[in-house]
Amino acid sequence: MSKSESTGATDTGALEIKDTRTGKMYTVPILEAGTEGDTTARAMDLRQIKQSDDEFGLMTYDPAFMNTASCKSAITFIDGDKGILRYRGYPIEQLAEKATFLETAWLLRKGELPNQQEYDSWVHDITFHTYVHENVKGFLQGFRYDAHPMSMLCSTVAALSSFYPDAKNIQDPEERNISIIRLLAKVPTLAAFCYRHTKGLPFIYPDNDLSYVENFLSMVARMSEPKYEANPTFVKALEVLFILHADHEQNCSTNAVRAVGSSHVDPFSAVAAGIAALYGPLHGGANEAVLRMIKEIGDPKNVPAFIEEVKGGKGSRLMGFGHRVYKSYDPRAKIVKKLADEIFKETGIDKDLEIALKLEEAALNDDYFVSRKLYPNVDFYTGLIYRSMAFPTEFFTVLFAVARTAGWLAQWEEMLLDKEQKIARPRQIYTGHPERSFASQLGNARGNAIPHVRST
Ligand code: CMC
Repeated sequence: MSKSESTGATDTGALEIKDTRTGKMYTVPILEAGTEGDTTARAMDLRQIKQSDDEFGLMTYDPAFMNTASCKSAITFIDGDKGILRYRGYPIEQLAEKATFLETAWLLRKGELPNQQEYDSWVHDITFHTYVHENVKGFLQGFRYDAHPMSMLCSTVAALSSFYPDAKNIQDPEERNISIIRLLAKVPTLAAFCYRHTKGLPFIYPDNDLSYVENFLSMVARMSEPKYEANPTFVKALEVLFILHADHEQNCSTNAVRAVGSSHVDPFSAVAAGIAALYGPLHGGANEAVLRMIKEIGDPKNVPAFIEEVKGGKGSRLMGFGHRVYKSYDPRAKIVKKLADEIFKETGIDKDLEIALKLEEAALNDDYFVSRKLYPNVDFYTGLIYRSMAFPTEFFTVLFAVARTAGWLAQWEEMLLDKEQKIARPRQIYTGHPERSFASQLGNARGNAIPHVRST
């Protein structure tokens, strides 16, 4: 076993590849690059495989990154078959039970748990950067009353980059630090402002006496009372949900943040890209989709017919089920289900929860779902919890975004400090026309269209 000079990884053997086109043999090292025994081969090692010197060389083809590691990361570990999720080595179950969200955010970024002094100054800095420039309020007023809060959040986070032009100095550790603090501090404020805008309610300024979660709930829900006192069960639940959603290694939105950040744009723009990716119904939008699905089912007695529709491929998928990585119960879903039980003890069980329970039971006992290893994911019960806390459905993914900002920023900084990373720029397999000569298909020679005004 030898050490590879270029990767620092241990060489645990090699692939002997024979190109049947040329009869040539190639040796490609197998690298054990991870602490949990992940093995890889470098795609660039295949480039040497070619039929002639002027050929580009063999590429790998992997749509949707089904089997491609795009980076090395020391932040989050997932074993999808065993249902394991750890941040920096700590099991998610322990963090959910014992940590605070800001402690978790520090851990994700720095790699170790903060001591008291580090934690106090981290919390202080984040607390005192929660205010946003007054112009942001004017900007939000430009959105229509029914604008989706994820569209608003995405645009306002992107707009923050224009307020902090120095944030583009991403190689300066001080600038990176203040940008990270600003994002963690201001995303909840922007999220709450988006909520207030959709409700036509005045914006509530941050209250620096409150904890991160309490302050967020205050900005969302405070009315005429001078001091907002949040329901402690809801505060605890949201703290846990934020921890569960804080990171999830190379998911779609994190990959978006890393890819966009790899162009060395400022972190506000990179995080806005993550929010855009999270908005989609196959990613963070799934918790919203679960509730819509439950509403559509309408009654527990309609569950068997709905399951048959899903299996027949006629209706939609069973939202909140399945995961690209987890092929057993999503460990976050277990914690969320327990949390849901505690919340519903307080708020009561309703028909929607009954539908959800029946759906879960039906799917877990149905060969279609069992054989495809489709288990409830984190989004299956979170929507029901959020709704029982009186958040509107459109707001669920915003809550996810507030929490995931911690992971996006940790991953963004790790990417920047990784000497092996360059601008993300995949290859393609071109399937279009070979070269051909231009011959206009329009009536007049240069194709000058007559300008006309289109209705919008
Ligand atoms: N309901 C019914 N069938 C499903 C589902 C589902 N939710 N998910 C996958 N399948 C079937 C799929 O039709 C396919 O069947 P077949 O082999 O017969 O064609 C098989 O399972 C494999 O599906 P896939 O699309 O190849 O799996 P994937 O790894 O590409 O997709 C997923 C993962 C999460 C996009 C998908 O399971 C899904 O669409 N789930 C519903 C949406 C959802 O809950 N998303 C939240 C994900 S967790 C939070 C997050 O990451 O944001």
